[in-house]
Amino acid sequence: MSWGDPVIPEEEVISKSLDWTLMRRLLRYLKPYRVAVLFSIVLLFLLSGLGIVGPFITKLAIDRAIAVETITDAERMRILTRFSLLYLLVLVLEFGIRYAQTYITQLVGQKVMFDLRTEIFRHLQKMSLHFFHKNPVGRLMTRVTGDVEVLNELFTSGVVQIFGDLFLLIGIVTAMLLLNAKLALVVFTVLPVIFFASMLFRAKVRDSYRNVRTRLARLNSHLQESITGMNVIQLFGAEKRSFDQFDDANALHRDAHLQSVHYYAVFFPVVELIGAIATALIVWYGGGAVVQDALTFGALAAFIQYTASFFRPIRDLSEKYNVLQSAMASSERIFHLLDTKPGIPVAADAREPGPLSRAITFENVWFAYNDEEWVLKGIDLTVRQGESVALVGATGSGKSTLVTLLGRFYDVQKGAIRLDGTDIRELALGNLRRRIGTVLQDVFLFSGTIDYNIRLGDSAITEERMLEAAQVANADAFIGRLENGYAEPVRERGAGLSTGEKQLLAFSRALAFDPEIFILDEATSNIDSETESLIQDALERILIGRTSLVIAHRLSTIQHVDRIIVLHHGEIREEGTHEELMREGGLYKKLYDLEYDGKRWE
Ligand SMILES: Nc1ncnc2c1ncn2[C@@H]1O[C@H](COP(=O)(O)OP(=O)(O)OP(=O)(O)O)[C@@H](O)[C@H]1O
Ligand SMILES: [Mg+2]
Repeated sequence: MSWGDPVIPEEEVISKSLDWTLMRRLLRYLKPYRVAVLFSIVLLFLLSGLGIVGPFITKLAIDRAIAVETITDAERMRILTRFSLLYLLVLVLEFGIRYAQTYITQLVGQKVMFDLRTEIFRHLQKMSLHFFHKNPVGRLMTRVTGDVEVLNELFTSGVVQIFGDLFLLIGIVTAMLLLNAKLALVVFTVLPVIFFASMLFRAKVRDSYRNVRTRLARLNSHLQESITGMNVIQLFGAEKRSFDQFDDANALHRDAHLQSVHYYAVFFPVVELIGAIATALIVWYGGGAVVQDALTFGALAAFIQYTASFFRPIRDLSEKYNVLQSAMASSERIFHLLDTKPGIPVAADAREPGPLSRAITFENVWFAYNDEEWVLKGIDLTVRQGESVALVGATGSGKSTLVTLLGRFYDVQKGAIRLDGTDIRELALGNLRRRIGTVLQDVFLFSGTIDYNIRLGDSAITEERMLEAAQVANADAFIGRLENGYAEPVRERGAGLSTGEKQLLAFSRALAFDPEIFILDEATSNIDSETESLIQDALERILIGRTSLVIAHRLSTIQHVDRIIVLHHGEIREEGTHEELMREGGLYKKLYDLEYDGKRWE
């Protein structure tokens, strides 16, 4: 099959920490906001500068005022006040710039996330049914929310802040070297230790982080499945087992987290400790230099401050490295999703023909979901304009499959489906689907009102048309009984409505869009006889003059169709009117007798 590999990887092993191809593609998302990003980097540069100025002012204050004995006390106080005010000014500036910088980076991050989510959602809307069957909902949800969030972290605290840390480090090193090269070298003696500790930390955290992610994914998918299937779990008393499974997944996830917490808890104090040792070295070595008059007291004070702020960017860089790493993994998954081609190829010169004038034809149609496991085997079927045809057959005979092919949710492997002689693969997909109104086997309702579920928010459908559709579909009576009528909220998946009511609602929806071609895939569940007669009555009206394909699970549903097709193991076995088929005494008659024996014939 030509769908390529539509399966999105779950949590694959990350081989590379920094992949430049990925990185370049990621940075493209910053392009629309490049002015803001540049501005933010300039602000970071200024911030690093200010961070270096502070200790230098301390040095000046000590060397020019506090430790000077050649000028009057009043003069010293005056100079000291001046430096203090200067320091204050630096702090205020730093505050202001930091605010602006934080705001701008977060702003850019949010905008990039917005763009990415939009792109992913738009892409998802184009994917074929095949794709959604292969990819669990939970995994796709994670792509749109979790992975995008990780990228946000990269943009806001990663990429940009790395510049900040680097500027600051370079600035501090330069300032130290300029102040006193020897003393600077003393501080740098601890660097190999830091370097080694960071490497170890990075490797450990990377592993445990990967663990956290896989275990979280497992926890989430278990949770999602349990919530969706809670009624089954409760009906079969499987709470204990489901709970134990959850408990296990939960514990594994907690332990993975604790593991990474452990590494952080070791690494951060280690860096602090090394910093303290460096400071002690400065006090010892620099103190000696001050005693020997080789260093001013102010310079020593500045050095101590520089040393203290020297280790923070080093520590942060190690942490950023992890952000970078998980961002690489997330972006790889997101890009894989975005690069998955929509399953249904659309012809470049797709046509938008007018209304159906002759017929829908299935010509020797062969179809398999998985290669060579044929679900439909050489179907030849013609439905003339205005004709209504019913499909019957045992469960799994391929009825639903046949009708989904008409809307091109899948493409046939052999043969063709034509509208007035034109292969549907040559038609514009939107045009094709707009012409078909489908009521699916399991009716899907969205959370919203009844009104929304009929019109699906399409403003082209007027209120009158909606009301008329509901009336023709016999849905108006039960809607009228609802407390808020058409404004009644529908809960997720239509909980609170009966199967029959949902079906009537689905009829209304299909009719509101006034399709040329009507497809009904009747729900298999039992419906009370009153609703059943409402459905039959509505159907009778819908089918008049409309080209239709009706899949029936109750033979009573199809009393009014023009022709009945009996499908068996993906092949057409019998064809004719009810009377003809009964006379033939074949499969149809068997199904009929079964149904009227009060049994289901699936
Ligand atoms: N998404 C899918 N992936 C793989 N196989 C599928 C898929 N959907 C259906 N099938 C298989 O295709 C065959 C035909 O299924 P189909 O849903 O068309 O049957 P049906 O006639 O509509 O049955 P029912 O009366 O129960 O609705 C079945 O054997 C089913 O297992
Ligand atoms: Mg079916």
